[in-house]
Amino acid sequence: CGIVGYVGDKQAQDVVINGLRRLEYRGYDSAGIALVAEGRLEHDKRAGRLANLEKAIAQHPLPQATTGIGHTRWATHGAPNDLNAHPHLGSSQRVALVHNGIIENFAGIRDELERAHHVLASETDTEVAAHLLELQVESGVDLTTAMQRVCQRLQGAFTLVAVDAQDPSRVVAARRNSPLVVGLGEGENFLGSDVAAFIEHTREALELGQDQVVTITREGVEVTTFDGAPAEGTRYHVDWDLSAAEKDGHDWFMRKEIFEQPRAVADSLLGRHARNGLLQLDEMRLSDQELRDIDKIIIIACGTSFYAGMVAKYAIEHWTRVPVEVELASEFRYRDPILDYSTLVVAISQSGETADTLQAIRHARLQRSKVLAICNTNGSTIPRESDAVIYTHAGPEIGVASTKGFLTQLVACYLLALYLAQVKGTRYGDEISEIMHQLEAVPDQIASVLSRSDEVYELARSHVGTRSVLFLGRHAGYPVALEGALKLKELAYIHAEGFAAGELKHGPIALVEEGLPVLCVVPPRGRDQLHEKMISGIQEVRARGARTICLAEEGDTSIEPYADHLIRLPKVPVLLQPLVAVVPLQLFACELATAMGHDVDQPRNLAKSVTVE
Ligand code: G6P
Repeated sequence: CGIVGYVGDKQAQDVVINGLRRLEYRGYDSAGIALVAEGRLEHDKRAGRLANLEKAIAQHPLPQATTGIGHTRWATHGAPNDLNAHPHLGSSQRVALVHNGIIENFAGIRDELERAHHVLASETDTEVAAHLLELQVESGVDLTTAMQRVCQRLQGAFTLVAVDAQDPSRVVAARRNSPLVVGLGEGENFLGSDVAAFIEHTREALELGQDQVVTITREGVEVTTFDGAPAEGTRYHVDWDLSAAEKDGHDWFMRKEIFEQPRAVADSLLGRHARNGLLQLDEMRLSDQELRDIDKIIIIACGTSFYAGMVAKYAIEHWTRVPVEVELASEFRYRDPILDYSTLVVAISQSGETADTLQAIRHARLQRSKVLAICNTNGSTIPRESDAVIYTHAGPEIGVASTKGFLTQLVACYLLALYLAQVKGTRYGDEISEIMHQLEAVPDQIASVLSRSDEVYELARSHVGTRSVLFLGRHAGYPVALEGALKLKELAYIHAEGFAAGELKHGPIALVEEGLPVLCVVPPRGRDQLHEKMISGIQEVRARGARTICLAEEGDTSIEPYADHLIRLPKVPVLLQPLVAVVPLQLFACELATAMGHDVDQPRNLAKSVTVE
């Protein structure tokens, strides 16, 4: 969910709605706002997109106010309707509250409130917190104290932001296991799920710790623990500006982000390859000895980040000979994984907030394993709770489906693999330098793929009406096939599946019928027979009527007889091929979804940052 809070001298409605617009990618099932105006709370909330709320406010304007909160929801408890939308109010409409996360013990509290004759209007877990908070302020304490007390009763993960009708001077928030940052202004202050909420007003931010309550007023910011003891946040400067959060003439953020990939990859490589030829990772924070002691690596991630992890396995094992497992974060801790101090757990998360991944790293640390995060969001929870970080430098990613986030994760995975190889001495410096040079050439190669986007767009448009698409790949091309299929599911809502091409004959080939589009990621030609094996797979599906769309490197003529459609890729070694091969698949899904009339940036039922387990 997206959360905004504001107190200052501007119209709170404008600040809150603009903030919500920039956070809408975090959830868009419903939206709501509450303002404190002359001792009263004024609020409105609507199911559906933020636009519905804006329309409602235009018809029934809210009074002027300079203190307010807002929310865009990704539904967990209760259907996405008006009633379940946030903010939630207490019985006497004195307190309004918005929430992100899940309050796990809400059912017991709800029973207790109902026994005390509170009428709860929604099916949400949030509403109980609004009632508890209101009971506290009505007993005579200020909203800050009330929040501290309420948080001590709540279990689960939550960011709460609240206002009190009788105290327009403050907005109070709390966080546990769920994101919240403070924006520091002059005579005004902000709260947001991330800095995009207030980036147009200030680039000075305060990162909060776990289990903290923060009170913002016009004059300042006060942080405490849940017990009320004074605490401090960490100040930081946001190094991107408003333009990064705008579409720059593209129809979708996603399309803009696809086209930003050459820059994002180059930025993520910047400064890692020192003049002496050695790799340096500034936030590695694990000593060479600690890295040498590692005898097993487990990569955990969700969604697209998981596919980056699959590529990482191939690279790390090949270059370092350390065994690597890749695991979905949501499965990890429930299977009692074998971990100890010599296991390195690598958590890959663009947002740094994914709850499944966060809980997995906590489990790993309890078992004394070292945790390294690969993350795109400075100051987010996962890197903060890890022993070491490799930050990717993709800039903010707004489109829900990850693109530049994925490519830069791949870069970070290669860097990690090469760094380990350097420290463990499993590869010579010359070889590492050569791979780094190959990586440094990739931004231009991606640009060349992008320069031929029209070809892919035309192909995509010709697939409107297609019900099912298969994706095949081998080696590092297998995760690319999975990612291509995921993009199509996420954006175009088309049934799509990725398979390891060699596995085809063991089952999936039964799906092939006349005219079925099959996208094939063809490995570069090499000594390893991969290419030849892939061609056999392509022949097998073609013989059964499939229409093959092949992604193959320039100059590979052997593929021509078997491709109904050919998309050319620049020449790169097989391990690096995902960096170029995934790009046409992103363009394909984006354009096909556009042609089908879908909202590419905010696909149905999804959210960018899933901060609940
Ligand atoms: C959500 C998004 C996916 C993303 C996944 C992991 O499900 O819709 O696009 O890949 O979360 O996100 P993370 O921020 O942890 O990389």
